[in-house]
Amino acid sequence: MGNISEKIRYVGVNDLQKVIFEGMWPLPFGVSYNSYLVVDEKVALIDTAEAGFAREYMENIRREIGDRKVDYLVVNHMEPDHSSLISMIREAWPEVRIVGNAKTVPMIKGYHGISDNIHVVKEGDSISLGSSTLTFYMAPMVHWPETMVTYFNEEKTLFSGDAFGTFGALDGGITDSCCRLYGCTDVAENTFEAFREEMRRYYSNIVGKFGQTVQAALKKLSGLEISRICSTHGPVWENHAADVVSYYDRLSRYDADNGVCIVYASMYGNTAKAAKALASELEKRGIDYAVHNLCTENVSYAYRDVFKYNTLVVGAPTYNNDIFPPAYNFMYGVSARLVKNRNFAAFGSFTWAGASVKLLNEMASKLGFKLLSEGLSFPQAYSPEKCDMSALADRIMQERG
Ligand SMILES: Cc1cc2nc3c(=O)[nH]c(=O)nc-3n(C[C@H](O)[C@H](O)[C@H](O)COP(=O)(O)O)c2cc1C
Ligand SMILES: [Fe+2]
Ligand SMILES: [Fe+2]
Repeated sequence: MGNISEKIRYVGVNDLQKVIFEGMWPLPFGVSYNSYLVVDEKVALIDTAEAGFAREYMENIRREIGDRKVDYLVVNHMEPDHSSLISMIREAWPEVRIVGNAKTVPMIKGYHGISDNIHVVKEGDSISLGSSTLTFYMAPMVHWPETMVTYFNEEKTLFSGDAFGTFGALDGGITDSCCRLYGCTDVAENTFEAFREEMRRYYSNIVGKFGQTVQAALKKLSGLEISRICSTHGPVWENHAADVVSYYDRLSRYDADNGVCIVYASMYGNTAKAAKALASELEKRGIDYAVHNLCTENVSYAYRDVFKYNTLVVGAPTYNNDIFPPAYNFMYGVSARLVKNRNFAAFGSFTWAGASVKLLNEMASKLGFKLLSEGLSFPQAYSPEKCDMSALADRIMQERG
């Protein structure tokens, strides 16, 4: 472990302990906080790691550079999963020059009380480490305002921060030619396929809102020749760098596959039965789908598949004349992610006066979704007569062409 090239060394860590990332998102396969050294006449460290990994992280750095010092600490992103150990680096090497942009400076002060010896860079500025040049490009709102990326010119390597990142810790190696998704026993065709679901979950959960700014960053980076992507989470992409860029491009355009993401919440199982009925109608027609129950699983997975399929069908009973809260929260999250270009339908049980389906339709309409039906609102128990999922499945089939 360690060497990505003669000059680029991996000093990141796997987090196999954290159960919930950012206080919300489950980590069934862990996550890695990647950090890199570029070792030349001068040594640059690119981003740091989570606070709890101070010791392991320091050992990784010492293993690579021994008694040499870190001359520069490049701060691409200030989210604490990458910036927590900035103070520790400054304590270990008091002369280290911190490299950030104008928006980074107040954040470093606010988190670490550090305001001296900071080298402020702007778009296209470079620093030389000897025979290696690092050039900085701003990537605002991917997914914080201060985010920037660092390009190692001579090795055509992009240190991309969270861009192109994925959940999932690294097993077996660091680069995509030799690394596996930690704890996953599914056999994948290649590393990109192995991480694809976790990458989409990461993107949709954390970066999802920022499609437009990701597109702007991709446009800017399209001028660079990129043969290696070193992001802050997940494998180093060499063989699959182009696949990863085009996947992020698709996701940030909200481009989706033909298929249906069924998301429901249910107190007593009536709405759940309708969800099941729709799934079996889709199955009969050979339409791809995923089903997510918001009452038993984290909403993270539902967002993941909202970004996968071009049709979203949401089921929720009426609750206090409103949408049953788990489904409301989910739709709020879909709105917050500015999801576009989806077909939509709603269904749900009520007992005395249905409201949820109408309100779900309103939320979907605000997002510009195309309503495939007026919605299937049914009183009390589910039955195919009260809630015709076969007709909805036909409509979905027809939309698919
Ligand atoms: C706390 C609570 C509030 C409810 N509010 C309404 C309501 O405002 N209007 C209505 O028609 N039914 C209301 N219901 C009844 C449910 O919508 C009904 O039981 C429905 O069948 C539940 O669907 P489920 O089995 O999918 O959970 C409420 C039920 C509960 C428990
Ligand atoms: Fe981040
Ligand atoms: Fe991150």
